[in-house]
Amino acid sequence: DLYNFRQIGPDTKVHGVIGKPIGHSKSPHLYNSAFKSVGFNGIYLPLLVDSVKNFLATYSSPDFVGYSYTIPHKEDGLRCCDEIDPIAQAIGAISCMIRRPADGKLMGYNVDYLGAIAAIEEGLRASNGTTSVGSPLAGKLFVVIGAGGAGKALAYGGKEKGARVVVANRTFEKAKELASKVGGEAMTLAELENFHPEDGMILANTTSVGMKPNIDNTPLSKKALSRYSLVFDAIYTPKLTRLLREAQESGAIIVYGTEMFINQAFVQFERFTGLPAPKELIREVLVRNT
Ligand code: ATR
Repeated sequence: DLYNFRQIGPDTKVHGVIGKPIGHSKSPHLYNSAFKSVGFNGIYLPLLVDSVKNFLATYSSPDFVGYSYTIPHKEDGLRCCDEIDPIAQAIGAISCMIRRPADGKLMGYNVDYLGAIAAIEEGLRASNGTTSVGSPLAGKLFVVIGAGGAGKALAYGGKEKGARVVVANRTFEKAKELASKVGGEAMTLAELENFHPEDGMILANTTSVGMKPNIDNTPLSKKALSRYSLVFDAIYTPKLTRLLREAQESGAIIVYGTEMFINQAFVQFERFTGLPAPKELIREVLVRNT
């Protein structure tokens, strides 16, 4: 009962997730269940796309109202928008595109960083037992591994919350470029192995290192993890990556990639439908399917 075929009609709003590959995506199940639960007349499809530009030119009717963007199309997606949210512009990637009803213009947003940063803040607050208004990331040393779309999102998000940002990437040039944009420090992955300026650092992996099927890989050795108080991994298949397992064994708080996905799903649902997200249901569907 994933697709509500009986409900599809001339007024049905079409959504989808644009990526390549796309078979692993949990988004169709998530949004179709959520649309159904609130009685929203919409469907959400997995869209295996080679060229974003050609896809959007083909499916240009007003019924095609909203898309999520995933690897490798977050940057191409941005180039195909009519208008871009300032944070998505700064990041250089979108995660979400909405067709504005009034004039059909395609609006680009990046809600990845909202989801990831909210999940990290929640983890820090839970561990401190604090409910302070200010961000618990403020003043912290925040290390982001990776400088692709997700890496940019996390680095900008951390900067926005007042953290001191470090970007580590396999290709140093890309780390340098991103670090300079967020006023942070850049290093290679090898340098990160020996980077121990202080205790209580926060780590976010945004690379695909450790993603299924390469579950024995990890972007940072267990030895180097001991200085981190919280470790987040954007990967959500598997839920417990080697990085997270070793961080937990080293005594750090761990934040699963699924939390980023859940938090940004709330935001996207609200942008797609204009209705409040059924948070319990979204969380439940995701937990059941991971
Ligand atoms: P996303 O939009 O999810 O961030 P991306 O833009 O393709 O995806 O970025 C992938 C990131 O993972 C990059 O930082 C990439 O490093 P490079 O800039 O050196 O390519 C990193 N990455 C991917 N595979 C990697 C690997 N095997 N080892 C280290 N880093 C890797």
